[in-house]
Amino acid sequence: MPGFELFGDLERKQVNDVLDNGVLMRYGFDGMRKGHWKAKELESALEDAFQTNHVQLVSSGTAAVSVALAVAGVGAGDEVIMPTFTFVASFEAIMALGAIPVLVDIDNTLALNPEAVEEAITPKTKAVMVVQMCGSMGDMTALKNICDKHNLLLVEDACQAIGGTYNGKPLGSIGDLGCFSFDFVKTITCGEGGAVITNNEEYYINADHFSDHGHDHVGNDRGAETHPFLGYNFRISELHAAVGLAQVKRLPEFIDIQKRNFKILRDALSDIPEVTFRTVPDGGEESAAFLNFFLPDLETSREVIQSFSVYGVDACWNYYDNNWHYIRKWEHLKELKSLFPITKEVKEGLKYLETKTFEKSDYFIARNISCLIKLSWTEAEVKERASRMVIAIKACL
Ligand SMILES: Cc1ncc(COP(=O)(O)O)c(C=O)c1O
Repeated sequence: MPGFELFGDLERKQVNDVLDNGVLMRYGFDGMRKGHWKAKELESALEDAFQTNHVQLVSSGTAAVSVALAVAGVGAGDEVIMPTFTFVASFEAIMALGAIPVLVDIDNTLALNPEAVEEAITPKTKAVMVVQMCGSMGDMTALKNICDKHNLLLVEDACQAIGGTYNGKPLGSIGDLGCFSFDFVKTITCGEGGAVITNNEEYYINADHFSDHGHDHVGNDRGAETHPFLGYNFRISELHAAVGLAQVKRLPEFIDIQKRNFKILRDALSDIPEVTFRTVPDGGEESAAFLNFFLPDLETSREVIQSFSVYGVDACWNYYDNNWHYIRKWEHLKELKSLFPITKEVKEGLKYLETKTFEKSDYFIARNISCLIKLSWTEAEVKERASRMVIAIKACL
């Protein structure tokens, strides 16, 4: 990550195709667009990349998670199990549908702890949302078995893990629905954009209609289209899709670069006995978007973060102290600070957050440091960075 580091002529050419005909919308205007259907082409390229039957592009990763839940019928009063370590989009999407986010612990994979998931299931549980954080994944076999046993939907947020695989299958394609983000800092970017992927045709048709005001997309006269059900506008524009189309063609190249850079850093840190690495489930292969490692305790992690800045090592985070990715700092969720009234069901459903603690998650997040793997580094730069990281860590031990 991130794809924007390697912008070039391919992106320019795709965007110019759109600018030349002036059709910035993905639907309609057939006569004007001179055969350019960037969103459709990108959907088809992603179907190949994800080895999946259907892809629906949307306006963001947050939209992707909202649409994935909505099209599978998650709504008012339903409980959705999600991890304590994720991005705020997870609970935003759940709550936007009037459903209740049930936060549970993670484990040493930095994703959902299957035991915690099973303990949290109630008669109201409708879905489990696994978030494949920082380029890796949860124990997908265990999570899938739990969902099958309890007849729950498995939604995979793979926004940070494009290019990762589990038993040879692309992350995002294992659950009932998978979600991706193509925002500005993701491995491939559209500027803003996202995708819902699924092998379930009904969910796909729902996503196609729901993300465009419920339009049925039959024929080529938008005014004459019917609305089989209510929807919203989560459309991607042709300009954004054009950028993504250029980027997706480079996905294998980007993943190779990530893996090469990741290996150099991981090998260097492996020589430090106090450093351990996140667990990748058997059969899993990380996308290498981030290198995640554990230190002995929170104090050492905080010192190493300081030491990294002294030694000029950027783009590394300890999420215990971070406002975006971990429950500890989400006061706005815990105190339900909403601009508009929230339903009684959701308010009551979230009361547990006033008192609940997450010691198991704290144990992993406090000791974790997560380092972004950039695409633009030269091999010499990565090697230089690796030696500075080792010196900076050893200075704190
Ligand atoms: C795990 C995860 N889910 C969802 C999102 C939301 O994506 P977007 O920024 O495209 O809305 C992000 C964005 O960082 C993310 O990291």
